[in-house]
Amino acid sequence: MSKLGTNVREAAKILTEGGLVAIPTETVYGLAANAFNEAAITKVFQVKNRPSFDPLITHVANKNELNNLAKNIPPDAQKLMDVFWPGPLTIVLPKTERISDLITSGLPSAAFRVPNHPIALKLLRALDFPLVAPSANPFTYVSPTTAQHVEQQLGEKVDYILDGGPCQVGLESTIISFTGNLPKVLRLGGLSIEEIEKEIGSVSVQTHSSSRPEAPGMLINHYSPGIPLVIGEIDKLLKENKGKKVGIISYKKAFPDYINTVLAPSENMAEAAKNLFKALRWMDDQKVEIIVTEWVPNEGLGRAINDRLKRAASN
Ligand code: TXA
Ligand code: MG
Repeated sequence: MSKLGTNVREAAKILTEGGLVAIPTETVYGLAANAFNEAAITKVFQVKNRPSFDPLITHVANKNELNNLAKNIPPDAQKLMDVFWPGPLTIVLPKTERISDLITSGLPSAAFRVPNHPIALKLLRALDFPLVAPSANPFTYVSPTTAQHVEQQLGEKVDYILDGGPCQVGLESTIISFTGNLPKVLRLGGLSIEEIEKEIGSVSVQTHSSSRPEAPGMLINHYSPGIPLVIGEIDKLLKENKGKKVGIISYKKAFPDYINTVLAPSENMAEAAKNLFKALRWMDDQKVEIIVTEWVPNEGLGRAINDRLKRAASN
């Protein structure tokens, strides 16, 4: 059997038997395992080389599944689920004992999301258990946005890769926590803060990293493309890096004399988000010595893009 395919029944069978399947979502590809099988959860950490203190997101088919998995769900969290699920929003809530401490790294809260991808939803509905699924990349590397990316990086180590085409959002989900008195955004991502605030009013954003961050995926070096990356005014950075093999990731202007990828030729921020990780990987393939890039307008999805650029630059 080829590792890469579109057979949801096969994927369901492997997951039921405790195997690992890479699954498409609208954000990035996930490395999925049965959330009720501790051996399978442990394998996810091993395959990703992920430290055990970095908790996993539990993916469910719909919000009703949370009845047994989460407790004390505040009305604002309910509202976000109603409006944005399925979609690129992860909600952190106090957990029940049905959620293993392995998933949450011992935290009393757990992260949940309903992914908005027809294949992922079909799979989740076919199963009688939820799926833990971190992004399907080795720890600290750029998240995969195609099935081929997964195959290149984890091909040997997964039992099957469900191919759902390129991810439509291209950035990981936004994470919001409802474990304190007030909702707190822990990771900027595929759903903008503006969209969230339209529904529940202003929220605090606390995505800075520390040695034991609340959302450890937010460690500062988390999106390493494997090559140095600098951000600023492109013309100036080009002068500073004369003589080097430079690659340019620009927002909307093309640089035809250089190895260049333009994130959003149409100036559409969603397009830029969708292209970002692909661009970082492509630069790796081009074997450039340094990536020169620029900030995008810091609003809507642009904030999440700038956040990922900043992290990619910090190596
Ligand atoms: O878009 C996504 O969210 C993708 C797709 C596959 O669904 N998944 C993803 O998972 O990005 P991962 O493991 O790469 O990132 C999950 C983040 C981690 O940074 C983790 O720290 C945070 O979720 N997280 C999980 N449980 C948490 C909890 N109880 N409290 C705070 N943060 C939590
Ligand atoms: Mg990740």
